[in-house]
Amino acid sequence: MDKKEFVLKDLDATHKWAHEFAKTLHAPVTVALHGDLGMGKSEIAREIIKTLRGENTVVPSPTFTLVQNYDGISHFDLYRICDVSELEEIGLKYAIDNDITLIEWPDIAKDILPKNTIHVYITQNGLGRKLVIQ
Ligand SMILES: Nc1ncnc2c1ncn2[C@@H]1O[C@H](COP(=O)(O)OP(=O)(O)OP(=O)(O)O)[C@@H](O)[C@H]1O
Ligand SMILES: [Mg+2]
Repeated sequence: MDKKEFVLKDLDATHKWAHEFAKTLHAPVTVALHGDLGMGKSEIAREIIKTLRGENTVVPSPTFTLVQNYDGISHFDLYRICDVSELEEIGLKYAIDNDITLIEWPDIAKDILPKNTIHVYITQNGLGRKLVIQ
């Protein structure tokens, strides 16, 4: 896929971007959300899930549960995973093969991410964010 860049001036702009991006996703597809603490990985995942599963969907952060499932959408946060052997136990491979799979802190899974993974790199840009999609 071509590299694309988006400058998002605030959280509202980020939500609008994620809303449009969500409509382009069809399972099975994996989206790797890269970015430091607080860059907005969860905000993007939450907006994608609400767009595809309804605005009233409650989307808690998977920081402690590691994964949350929404009828064919799987939202992972791998921050607390220490060893790649844990990835199978939490169902990552199954999700990648079947679901719209959204992954925060994806680095530890890099060897099992499919070639066509959509990588989203989020960095600070003034008060907003810059996204690079690859
Ligand atoms: N594009 C943005 N512009 C300004 N503020 C933002 C933007 N995206 C997120 N934020 C702010 O940053 C806060 C943290 O975002 P979020 O929890 O999504 O980060 P995260 O990348 O998932 O962090 P973590 O690594 O802890 O999981 C949000 O509550 C929001 O207020
Ligand atoms: Mg998060």
